[in-house]
Amino acid sequence: MAKDKPRRQVSDQQGAEISEAQIAVHWQEEGYYSPAKDFIAQANLTDKGVFKRFTLDKFPGYYKEFAALLDWYKKWDKILDTGKPPFWRWFVGGRINASYNCVDRHLARHKNKTAIHFVPEPENEAIQHLTYQELFVRVNELAALLREFCGLKSGDRVTLHMPMVAELPITMLACARLGVIHSQVFSGFSGKACADRITDSESRVLITMDGYYRAGKLLDHKEKADIAVAEAAKDGFKLDKVLVWQRRPGRSSSPTPMVEGRDFVVNDVLVKYRGKRVEPVQMPAEAPLFLMYTSGTTGKPKGCQHSIGGYLAYVTWTSKMIQDIHPEDVYWCMADIGWITGHSYIVYGPLALAASSVVYEGVPNYPDAGRPWRIAEELGVNIFHTSPTAIRALRKDGPDEPAKYHYHFKHMTTVGEPIEPAVWKWYHKMVGKGEAVIVDTWWQTENGGFLCSTVPAIHKMKPGSAGPGIPGIHPVIYDDEGKELPAGSGKAGNICIRNPWPGGFQTIWKDPDRFVKQYYARYCRNPKSKDWRDWPYMAGDGAVQAKDGYYRILGRIDDVINVAGHRLGTKEIESAALICPEVVEAAVVPVADPIKGKVPDLYVSLKPGLKASEEIEKKISASVVSEIGAIARPRHVIIVPDMPKTRSGKIMRRVLAAISNRQDPGDVSTLANPEVVDKIKALSR
Ligand code: WT7
Repeated sequence: MAKDKPRRQVSDQQGAEISEAQIAVHWQEEGYYSPAKDFIAQANLTDKGVFKRFTLDKFPGYYKEFAALLDWYKKWDKILDTGKPPFWRWFVGGRINASYNCVDRHLARHKNKTAIHFVPEPENEAIQHLTYQELFVRVNELAALLREFCGLKSGDRVTLHMPMVAELPITMLACARLGVIHSQVFSGFSGKACADRITDSESRVLITMDGYYRAGKLLDHKEKADIAVAEAAKDGFKLDKVLVWQRRPGRSSSPTPMVEGRDFVVNDVLVKYRGKRVEPVQMPAEAPLFLMYTSGTTGKPKGCQHSIGGYLAYVTWTSKMIQDIHPEDVYWCMADIGWITGHSYIVYGPLALAASSVVYEGVPNYPDAGRPWRIAEELGVNIFHTSPTAIRALRKDGPDEPAKYHYHFKHMTTVGEPIEPAVWKWYHKMVGKGEAVIVDTWWQTENGGFLCSTVPAIHKMKPGSAGPGIPGIHPVIYDDEGKELPAGSGKAGNICIRNPWPGGFQTIWKDPDRFVKQYYARYCRNPKSKDWRDWPYMAGDGAVQAKDGYYRILGRIDDVINVAGHRLGTKEIESAALICPEVVEAAVVPVADPIKGKVPDLYVSLKPGLKASEEIEKKISASVVSEIGAIARPRHVIIVPDMPKTRSGKIMRRVLAAISNRQDPGDVSTLANPEVVDKIKALSR
């Protein structure tokens, strides 16, 4: 079955199944916007020669420039080893530590500079400003605790299920100091989702926090840890320890009791490690830094394994050149560290450059849509980074709010999903006050850092288009037959990257076969070849390239839905529905949503004899939330008498998606049960 995967995607594209690309909006070509002169005058990358230095015939040598931004214990012997395609190995022979590069090396010049501004959601709680010196102390003490109290050593995995607090980067950097592989799970995910990731990564230690503020409420987060431990036990996996940070040190924020001998309050244990220093472990560049789970085409999330040397070099270079971060900048990426964006562009990239990085606990429009702009004004933020979903929500709730605050952004980023030109223009005019340059960065969890974007001081901006490949990245669009579409053809196809790059993930944790099949098999020219040119990377997105070389991303071609800028597997949601004994069949389809981009609609059919009821709908929806998290909550659960099916019995999601999106389902006469289509139409809301 798994073997057929790439072929199945071909049929997806031909319309047997629905894909996001098929229901993508079709935008007009837009005009250009130029970066401001002031921005160009101070930018890190203004030399157009970069594109000449970074041509494919000079690959992989140009990536030396990336590695040169880091401090190495031992310089690498070989930039790229292609001996076992497509398991590329970067900076082979090098020795490095990520925690050293993000903390220790800045002490000489920047020890009194703020590394992290922690902004609590309640506005009456003071902002914390953590200097590089304090970060150094806290990372060391925690590293000592992890090593001595938990017995962790390099190569071990630890699962983190932490909210947006300063303790999260501290914990990640303490792990990195020891060469321990962290796997941070988005705090909004359920205890069950956390358990799946604990079991898959075989983490003996879970690090969490007792509670956190979200939309005005102090949430009990510790209860999810108890669920996670219990669910992992059901799979036969036992955790040794649960470390619990306190959101309000010295007092508990969770009514869930601590389990004797298993749960430990971090600050209580830390007392023993006051003043302790831990030498950073000199790790091979090729060792894993972290796992980041993401949704794929089967139900099981994939643990994307990212390296230390290659990944850190990639996020540092792109933070400097595409985000234009200088050490004196105050940089705020409003993503969650539980996603790759936060790993790369809140923690590792900005801290490697000695910037001040803002960590904001709460939701953007709490208590009102002026909040982000108050934070920007108070902290003097001058680089801002967020998703189209957040921009849409802030535009809807407070279209004129930004003008009320005295902040100035020189640079803004958008990431995670296509941004509509109208939303882009509001972002530019109102949030950026017409001064800030914008980059629309296209990439994925698997990629470590940006793939397509304009270079902010060199290229003009074009609303709705990500831009060309960034320096060193050489994209190509293939059609379904594997033929290259001519450059700038304006035709839709599958976007791929011709060359490897240091930020690319190394493999899927414990599943190298799936790594090869899902990302490389379809367009590989020769599976025996050791030449990287035969192994283009397939991103799984539809895209078009305009004459100017800019790419516009249309969305996923597989059965993955991008909700609020993050991928959710339709299979994951469907299997969560199927846990309810009433449900016999489930089908999830993406629906265009004015704020979140896409949301899932969940169609189900029930066991014979059962009547549709609101109670069953609610139960199914609750099951999705407890299995995955609130982010996957279906817009509607629609109980249907029967699913539209092909003669061979396959559910026609395309028909369901058309109904949910109020589009014409097209010719349904070839279905085994065409009469059901009108019945479903009548049910849809
Ligand atoms: C998918 C990756 C890596 C950032 C967070 C999302 C879509 C991402 C853009 C963009 C249009 C975009 C793609 C991609 N996407 N950035 N600028 N324009 N689409 O990470 O959860 O791994 O999702 O997000 O479809 O494949 P992710």
